[in-house]
Amino acid sequence: PRVVVLISGNGSNLQALLDAQTHDELGGEIVAVVSNKADAYGLKRAKDAGVDAVALPHREYDSREAFDAALIKVIDRHDPDLVVLAGFMRILTPMFVDHYRGRMLNIHPSLLPAYQGLNTHQRALDDGVAEHGVSVHFVTEELDGGPVVIQAAVKVEPGQDLDALIDKVHAREHLIYPIAVRWFLEGRIKLGAEGTVTLDNMP
Ligand code: GRF
Repeated sequence: PRVVVLISGNGSNLQALLDAQTHDELGGEIVAVVSNKADAYGLKRAKDAGVDAVALPHREYDSREAFDAALIKVIDRHDPDLVVLAGFMRILTPMFVDHYRGRMLNIHPSLLPAYQGLNTHQRALDDGVAEHGVSVHFVTEELDGGPVVIQAAVKVEPGQDLDALIDKVHAREHLIYPIAVRWFLEGRIKLGAEGTVTLDNMP
């Protein structure tokens, strides 16, 4: 199976996926990485791994619709079974979401449905929560709202430092994203008609 990864920045999650592939633990092949930012460090990670790295700067397009249409063209040239959003910081049009329905995953740094949107770690600290974490979910029209596939929780200590919390969550991200991708590529998880995740072919 073929995977296209979309990024906007550092790409540490992309690196985790590339590493899983190296260890034959991804269940498929990352055939291209696309970034809406030309200077994203993740593009270098892709090149270093011998993966096709494409920069598609959104600023060169007049509208969200025009950019998303161009993005679909680039992605579909690679004929992916799965599109993986790994720190892709763009709001997607309904047309784009619909095109990849049931075959697009995102990772979001919170225990969804808590803390959709940005600055999740700071908001969790401000609320004094005891637990924070990360979720992988199918992408639907609702921003950070699609059905959850897998989550990992971390404890929030009293007086927890923000950067340390971000690091802890990031470490969990790198563990669970390759697992979720593998489950999908092995046909174990599907987006159900009711917007649920169904489990299939479990050993
Ligand atoms: C991660 O925190 C991810 O959860 C969020 O964007 C960040 C991407 O980090 N969606 P990286 O580029 O993979 O290091």
